[in-house]
Amino acid sequence: MEADPATLQRVVLVANQKGGVGKTSIVTALAGLIARPDRRVLVVDADPQGNATTSDLGIDGDRGRSLMMALQYGEPLQVQRDVRPGLDVVPGGPLLAQIGALTATAAQTGLDLVANLRAALAHTCAAGGYTVALIDSGPGDAPLLDALLRTARYLVVPTKDDDASLSGVELLALRYLKARQEGAAVQLLGVVLFDANPRATARNSQVLADLDDVLAGSGASSFSTMIRSDRAAALDLRAAHLTPAELVAASAAQSKSRLAKLRGGGGRHRADQPEPTADNDNGGNGEVRLWSRDPSGLASDYQALARELLTRIATAETGAPA
Ligand SMILES: Nc1ncnc2c1ncn2[C@@H]1O[C@H](COP(=O)(O)OP(=O)(O)OP(=O)(O)O)[C@@H](O)[C@H]1O
Ligand SMILES: [Mg+2]
Repeated sequence: MEADPATLQRVVLVANQKGGVGKTSIVTALAGLIARPDRRVLVVDADPQGNATTSDLGIDGDRGRSLMMALQYGEPLQVQRDVRPGLDVVPGGPLLAQIGALTATAAQTGLDLVANLRAALAHTCAAGGYTVALIDSGPGDAPLLDALLRTARYLVVPTKDDDASLSGVELLALRYLKARQEGAAVQLLGVVLFDANPRATARNSQVLADLDDVLAGSGASSFSTMIRSDRAAALDLRAAHLTPAELVAASAAQSKSRLAKLRGGGGRHRADQPEPTADNDNGGNGEVRLWSRDPSGLASDYQALARELLTRIATAETGAPA
């Protein structure tokens, strides 16, 4: 079955072979911010680590089984619906680690990862009516990354500002150009600076200028939105399985309850207004202590990035220059 390119029109791959540069955080934060019941979003967790599935979104998943079956046999994807309102997930996990071994014998077995994934994803996207599908990818894993680059319509590359991460961008840029030379439709939307210090303005401008040099010729520029460094909020997002908006709400509620306790009314208040548990994912009822006092700055970075992403997609779709 040939994939209908129109149904893959809004598929965005977030990738960088370098580890720990914010791929998963960006995918799950953007998905959480964009998704609404009337604006559906699909997250495809194409990483054997399964961080988007189990850590950030806090669901059990299927260890990557359905995505693996789709890649290997073109079987339909099993989507976990509404893990948040309007947010669906194709879970990732360790079963995806078999891809390397399978691709090593692809010439003999006739395995075509790209055709299989495109067909399965086109079917899922057509059925789900997604505003956007975001694919999270793991570090390394070249065969799967190459297949994703030949499946997605757009590419977003997160990076930190250290030299090793910037070299990761260069390596990925080469893989991207190769995929395009071989006919892939993927289009680089830009690079996002992650874990950045908003006050280091001179350093940030230098890094963005360097990145624009790396991207020269690709037609893309770096995103003007950066994701600020906020380790306390990052810990909370992952440990408590919260999206940025959920963390802002949980943190405000926790401060309110702390204040109520300090004023001596905590016990009575809590009976009427139970202290919101950070562990508010799908029925969890253990209380998680939040480390972040004010995660709103980080949440507003993600909000701005979501807007910039949707604007860049809209610009690409109308064919206007970025
Ligand atoms: N705003 C932030 N400031 C500082 N650290 C952060 C921030 N957001 C996330 N982190 C932390 O940075 C680390 C890397 O983030 P993340 O897992 O999103 O990167 P990744 O590129 O997906 O990594 P991998 O290559 O392992 O999949 C994680 O430990 C995460 O908790
Ligand atoms: Mg990750």
